[in-house]
Amino acid sequence: MGVKLRETESPSEMGKIIVSGGKPLNGEVEISPSKNGILPVIAASLLAEGPTSIPVIPNLTDVDTICEVISSLGVKVNRQPPGLAISGGQVNSVEPPYELVRKMRASILVMGPLLARQGRAVISLPGGCAIGSRPIDLHLKGLAAMGARITLGAGKIEARAPTLRGSRIYLDFPSVGATENLMMAASLAQGITYIENAALEPEIVNLADFINDMGGRVEGAGTNVIRITGVRELHGVVRSVIPDRIEAGTYMVAAAATGGSITLKNVRPEHLQSIIFKLRETGTEIQEEGEGSLRVTGSSSLQPVHLKTMPYPGFPTDMQPQFVALLSRAGGTSIVIETIFENRYLHVNELVRMGARIKTEGRTAIVDGVPALTGTRVRATDLRAGAALVIAALSATGDTEISGSEHVDRGYENLVDKLIGLGAAIKREP
Ligand code: UD1
Repeated sequence: MGVKLRETESPSEMGKIIVSGGKPLNGEVEISPSKNGILPVIAASLLAEGPTSIPVIPNLTDVDTICEVISSLGVKVNRQPPGLAISGGQVNSVEPPYELVRKMRASILVMGPLLARQGRAVISLPGGCAIGSRPIDLHLKGLAAMGARITLGAGKIEARAPTLRGSRIYLDFPSVGATENLMMAASLAQGITYIENAALEPEIVNLADFINDMGGRVEGAGTNVIRITGVRELHGVVRSVIPDRIEAGTYMVAAAATGGSITLKNVRPEHLQSIIFKLRETGTEIQEEGEGSLRVTGSSSLQPVHLKTMPYPGFPTDMQPQFVALLSRAGGTSIVIETIFENRYLHVNELVRMGARIKTEGRTAIVDGVPALTGTRVRATDLRAGAALVIAALSATGDTEISGSEHVDRGYENLVDKLIGLGAAIKREP
């Protein structure tokens, strides 16, 4: 079962973001609901007999894609800005089209719900990926332990299980997606499932809260053993998702990199601890300002730091590129170790083109801070690499043209408008 599900990074619409750097960010920014929180919740709506509604959703292309995926399975999705309503009930296909699955790896999250509801799921195996191969063996091993028969062939994985049975599952690595998929499948299985060495991410707790509101019985989410007692039926629910901790972290780093001072609204500081600690080490000041609000003030002399990406509550891999951009202007040498993905330094070459002094060796990046970055033409290769380039461009002298802005639109709602609101000189070009 050494299957790898990979997403291609060749969206059809190409766009550019142009930034005139050197302006400190100032003002207030509202953080959107979490992308990684909402994707599994929309997949989980397939488990419900009745309608599900999410009062506020982030306007992102990844959210569009997961909505298209579940629509392709026969569920009705109604956009009701700022929210979303999903019909629930009838599912009449078990195979989302390849064209959708190839756009986004998180499409695999419909596998657990489909198997639990329909007894069968067929998912294509797309090719090509920007941040390294990303296997799904842990998802499949867990589903097999619950009684699913997994077959591979013709570029597809098929899982079949007339009945899913509760089981004891040990994850070799605390995979976020595998924990979510198995939690969803187990909530309609017969008996009790234990997921050991489960992921601890806040998005896991968010999904467990959703399932429990739907009438499910998930205990221990947020710890490394999750216990799920299967129920016969789940009902629809109205519930909001948590704020996006990676979007929040990205604006915090942007404030630090430009020497600005901004206030973030709608944040959960408890989800941001590793980011807050590392930013403080760079000399950045961070203060809580009432509930759900953080003030971030950049320092005129950025200090180098050492950091290593780890599963939550460790430092998130999804913030590594943005930090590399920040540290490229620190007064000294930083060492960054990426332990989650094997090829997540695609932003480094682009930063070097802007004058950064960074060397990578396997999973390690050695970042020698330089006094200034210089604007030029660069290319975003994936979502967080794009965010790193925007941060570098905001702090650089001169103009930067970032192509591949469609990657950024997968995960940052209204990025350009939010940055304009903070005083940045930034615009889009088709
Ligand atoms: C989720 C996030 C992504 C984040 C990542 C790690 C979503 C939609 N995406 O992705 O933004 O970067 O967590 O925090 O929530 N692995 C296996 N076998 C598996 C599954 C994973 O070996 O069956 C490995 C992966 O190759 C990777 C590591 O585990 O090296 C982490 O992957 P995982 O936690 O599953 O990430 P995703 O759920 O894909």
